[in-house]
Amino acid sequence: MSTNTNELGLGILRQPRLVLFGPGQRHQLPHIVKDIATSLLVTTDARMATTPEFIEIIAAIEAEGITVSIYAEAEPDLPRENILTVVERFGDTRIDAVLGIGGGSCLDLAKVTAIVLHHKAEVRDYYGEFLVPGPGLPVITVPTTGGTGAEVTCIAVVFDKDRGMKVGVASPYLEAYAAVIDPELTLSCPPGLTAATGADALSHLVESFTDRAKNPTPDELKSRLYVGKNVLTDIYARNGLGLLASSLEAVAANPSDLQARSDTMLAAYNAGMAINTAGTAAAHAIQSPIGNLTHTPHGFGVGALLPYVMRFNLPERVEVFAEMGRILGVADGTEPQLEQAHRAIERVEEILAAIGAPLNLRELGLDPKDFEYVADQAMLATRLTANNPRELTKEAIIGILQKGYDADRSWWELP
Ligand SMILES: [Fe+2]
Repeated sequence: MSTNTNELGLGILRQPRLVLFGPGQRHQLPHIVKDIATSLLVTTDARMATTPEFIEIIAAIEAEGITVSIYAEAEPDLPRENILTVVERFGDTRIDAVLGIGGGSCLDLAKVTAIVLHHKAEVRDYYGEFLVPGPGLPVITVPTTGGTGAEVTCIAVVFDKDRGMKVGVASPYLEAYAAVIDPELTLSCPPGLTAATGADALSHLVESFTDRAKNPTPDELKSRLYVGKNVLTDIYARNGLGLLASSLEAVAANPSDLQARSDTMLAAYNAGMAINTAGTAAAHAIQSPIGNLTHTPHGFGVGALLPYVMRFNLPERVEVFAEMGRILGVADGTEPQLEQAHRAIERVEEILAAIGAPLNLRELGLDPKDFEYVADQAMLATRLTANNPRELTKEAIIGILQKGYDADRSWWELP
C-alpha cells in the first residue's frame, strides 16, 4: 500500500471537548472554570502575569468563589525544571483544574502539570507516545500568541537540560478540556513574537498539508500520535492557509488590526488541529537541534528551513503545492500544475519575508561545522521525519542545510 496517498480515505482528529473562539470570549472563562473547579492552578509567564487582561481574568474567576493559585515563571522552550517547581510548590495543594494562559510553553506546562499532579508522577516517565496511564486534571488553554496551536494539541514539548534535548510528552490524555481563543489577547503581543509565532503557524499548515499519508493499521491508530495527512486535517490545513493568505502580512503592517489578528489566530488554531494527527515534518525535525545550538525562536527556525524543505519535497507533492497556490490566491488553475506549485512556494517565502522572518540559516547563527550534528539529531526525530512526504536521509538534510545556509533558492527539484 502506498504511503504517500490516503488510500483508506481516512479522517482522524483529536480535539478539546470545548473550543470557544472570538474577540472577548475570555470573559466566558469564569463560567467555564466554575463548571469543573473550586480550586484552580494557573500557569503563565512573568510578562503575561502583569498585563491588565490577566489581572482582570483572575479577578473575575475569584469573584465566582474559586480559589486561584498562580505559577507565573513559565519559560520559553519549557524547561523540565518549571514542571518540578510547580509540583514542589503545589503538589500538596488541592487543585481541581489547571488553566494555562500565554504562549506555547505556558499551555504545555498546564497540560503536563495536570498529568503529573494527578498521577503523582515524574514527567520523565511520560517522555514518548501514549505512555500516560489515564486522564489527568481538566485543563483550560488560553493562547495569547497567534502561532503554536498548543491550545488544541495533545503534546507538550519539554527541554530536559540533563539530556541536552527537547522531548515530547504525547498522549490523547493531554488534550485540553476547553480551549478559549480570544484574539484580543494577541493585540499586545510584541512584533518579534508575533512574527515568530506567525511563521510557526504557517509552517504547521504547510507541513501538515504536504505530509505523508500513512494508511495506519488499527493498532497504529491506537499507539501513534501522528498518523499522516488525512481528509479531516486537510480541511483545517486548507482553511488555515486561506486565512493566512493575507492576514499575517496585515498584522505585521498594523499590529492593532483586530480582524487580521483574529484571522491569524483562527489560522493558528486550524494549524494546531491539523498537526495534532497529521504531525509536522522535516522543518520541525531539523529546527530542534538548530534551536538548541543557536537559541533562536522555534518559529524563526522552522520558517527559515521551510523554503528549502518545500523545494526538497516538491517532487512528491506537486498537486498539493499546486492546490496551495490556488488557496493562497497566486494561481487560478489555468497554469500547468508545476507552475502553480512553484508560485505557492514563492508566495509562502514572500509572506515570511514580509513579516520579518529570516529566510536563511546563516542569519540564525548556525555554523556549517555543525551541519553533521544537526543532521544526526534530526534523523533521530523519527516521530517527525516519518511524516515527511519525501524520504529524508542524512545526506538530504545536509543538502537542505547547505542550501539554507547559502540562502540558495535558485533551484527547483524536478518531479
Ligand atoms: Fe512548530
